[in-house]
Amino acid sequence: MSGLDIRKIGGRIGAEVVGVDIAAGLSDAVIADVNAALLEHKALVFRGQHLEEEGQLAFASRFGPLTQAHPTGIPSVDGQPQVLPIDGDDHRANHWHTDCTFVRTPPKASTLRALVMPSYGGNTLIANQAAAYRDLPAELRDFADTLWAVHSNDAGQPKLDTERADEYRKIFLSKIYQTAHPVVRVHPESGERSLFIGSFAQSIVGLSLSESRAILDMLQKYVTRPENVIRVQWTPGDLVLFDNRNTQHYGPDDYDDQPRMLHRVTIAGDAPVGVNGKQSYLIQGDDASHYTPAVA
Ligand SMILES: [Fe+2]
Repeated sequence: MSGLDIRKIGGRIGAEVVGVDIAAGLSDAVIADVNAALLEHKALVFRGQHLEEEGQLAFASRFGPLTQAHPTGIPSVDGQPQVLPIDGDDHRANHWHTDCTFVRTPPKASTLRALVMPSYGGNTLIANQAAAYRDLPAELRDFADTLWAVHSNDAGQPKLDTERADEYRKIFLSKIYQTAHPVVRVHPESGERSLFIGSFAQSIVGLSLSESRAILDMLQKYVTRPENVIRVQWTPGDLVLFDNRNTQHYGPDDYDDQPRMLHRVTIAGDAPVGVNGKQSYLIQGDDASHYTPAVA
């Protein structure tokens, strides 16, 4: 126990970690406590850290091997192959999603560092899919336990109508992935069950598209219940660490044409496992080994 000061933001998700200076370097005991807090709260906010690129990379790598910037060839920050720029001029993630669930081994966790923020809007919403699973009536939980969903990067996300955004979208769709993941995932560290869906989930294995849509929409309503969601209001210099194995997030497109820039560094994850012990399997695309190291 390092005596870390952790203050809950919401009853079901989110906590602020106070009194920690990441740039000064953290002991193994502090990192172990941060990891335990991550498992409990799913999203951790570190205010006023003002890290440089190297500081963000060093902090993220304490939790495991890092991924490259993106599986589809979206360019990284110049000279930093593991840092993805989140630039409001390229793309606005105003849909509920879990990062890169279209590959077989999606990231374990992500760090987001705020560099430039608009004068209003531009928050990040993060939802707890484990709380959503617990909210389901027992009959729906049992049903969801049996389902598998096909996730693809070509799942019809909203578009921005600019030339830069068209270029981004072209790269995003330059190779198509399809992976089947369990709709209910067992967390590899905590054993906690959670929904594992989001906007890359486009169909349910064995069902028609319209049947799939109805079921995914019904389950998704539990994820986005306000009590399962926190809203992070950014100040440049803040850093957020979230568990990508049992959360979804959403970046509201509500800041007009103001600049907004974050840098994302993600920690490699393993193949999800369903309640029957079966692992996710690839349907289309490669094993994404150019993007993420195999994690045992
Ligand atoms: Fe994202």
